[in-house]
Amino acid sequence: MAATIIDGKAISAKRRARIAERVTELKARGISPGLAVVIVGEDPASQVYVRNKVKACEETGVFSAKIVLPAETTQEALLAVVEELNGREDINGILVQFPLPAHLDEDAVIEAIRADKDVDGFHPESIGRLVVGKETFVSCTPAGVMVLLEESGVDLNGKDVVVIGRSNNVGKPVGLLALAQNATVTFCHSRTTDLPDHVRAADVVIVAVGRPEMVKGDWIKEGAVVIDVGINRLEDGRLVGDVEFETARQRASAITPVPGGVGPMTIAMLLENTLTATVRQNERKQGGLR
Ligand code: GUN
Repeated sequence: MAATIIDGKAISAKRRARIAERVTELKARGISPGLAVVIVGEDPASQVYVRNKVKACEETGVFSAKIVLPAETTQEALLAVVEELNGREDINGILVQFPLPAHLDEDAVIEAIRADKDVDGFHPESIGRLVVGKETFVSCTPAGVMVLLEESGVDLNGKDVVVIGRSNNVGKPVGLLALAQNATVTFCHSRTTDLPDHVRAADVVIVAVGRPEMVKGDWIKEGAVVIDVGINRLEDGRLVGDVEFETARQRASAITPVPGGVGPMTIAMLLENTLTATVRQNERKQGGLR
């Protein structure tokens, strides 16, 4: 079987067009969504990510405030910036780009962001709500994976889902989201014995480890769905995922490419979270006025 290629670029473009429509509707009601993106230092990859986020805001009509701080910014100064953004009426979502310079404490920054502006979904309150199945902000990459599955018509009910990677930002939340859709979820990681056997049994494989082509195509069960979150640059300059794409696509029923699979979804989900934050904050404000 040759797999359907899950086109993250097209699915992301469709979601962004819908976001732009929703922004127009909100503005007609006098509500203007706003996102703050904070970058500390000059990490080149982070600069590209932040530029893309600001551009996506411009394209969809979301107001964005880009705050650039020097690499030597102190923890206190960064927390003061977050605190100011927490109080700003025109800012509905706050994203502090990671990684931060080594002297800064990322966990303390995450916890300082007001939970109802936590569009990254990294705050312990957001994660706790995800665990107990309450409405929350889901971090952008796992949320994007779920949209790709939904748009590809993959029903997770009763399926065996294998998640490889147990990071707080991707592996753990995506496993919880699959569980919420009644999948039987197995988390695999660096200490898992017999990883190939786990993958062979999976109806859906979600890989987020950051190791080029570590999942071999012949591990994939005939007809399985493969979601590859990895983006790895090889020495020859090629970008590859965590899955051996050419061999895996011969066995899978559907597979995400790298690039052009999960990657394009994350910014669309960030914009969706920003709209969700905007709507929730406005509902609360109106509720308070009654
Ligand atoms: N750095 C790489 N990905 C992300 C992300 O999703 N959010 C933040 N805040 N930083 C990142």
